[in-house]
Amino acid sequence: MSKAYPVIVVLVSGRGSNLQAIIDRTQHDLPARIASVISDEPEALALERARRAAIPTHVVTRRAFPTRTAFDRVLQATIDAYHPELVVLAGFMRILTGDFVAHYQGKMINVHPSLLPAFPGLDTHARALAAGHRQHGASVHFVTEEVDGGPVIIQAAVPVLPEDTPEILAERVLAQEHRILPEAIRWFIERDLTIDGNIVRRHGEPVPLQRRMQNG
Ligand code: GRF
Repeated sequence: MSKAYPVIVVLVSGRGSNLQAIIDRTQHDLPARIASVISDEPEALALERARRAAIPTHVVTRRAFPTRTAFDRVLQATIDAYHPELVVLAGFMRILTGDFVAHYQGKMINVHPSLLPAFPGLDTHARALAAGHRQHGASVHFVTEEVDGGPVIIQAAVPVLPEDTPEILAERVLAQEHRILPEAIRWFIERDLTIDGNIVRRHGEPVPLQRRMQNG
């Protein structure tokens, strides 16, 4: 892979299937270089996926630091050593502090398993089922201080079926995450995107978001 490709750094905490989707696309048609994968969990399967793709890895655990500020400082230094154009949160399960988020304003994105603004936070699939929604999905958004509240770049909807469990629904949504996260990265590195308040424009036009059908 050419060194001239825009550099991205990916933050992970777990299984790393979204990381794998990005790796697979960079090995085919996504002109980006994953310079590093950073995990806050030493046992994350995502680290193994990165190693298999010969991507440098780092582990920065919260418990290794006495304060949140000290953790953030080291995490930030670890990321910035690679001078990334874009920081991608791909299943990174830590809530970020204001200073950290501000440092990466407009250049850090996250994939979230719901049609935001519906269901920020955890357990989105169970919550969508409990609410009786007939449509659920995934979003990629710029990261702001508000958890899962930043400007949305791209969404994908899936139907909620009568026999769904949270696990079955999660699988259907995850397949869409794997599609839209690399797509959002592409749009970013091709400089298609601008942020206008809480709206993302692509080629100057607001990106079309999914209309959520509540209870039908
Ligand atoms: C994904 O559903 C992501 O949206 C959520 O956590 C999950 C991570 O999955 N934040 P993986 O580690 O990418 O497989």
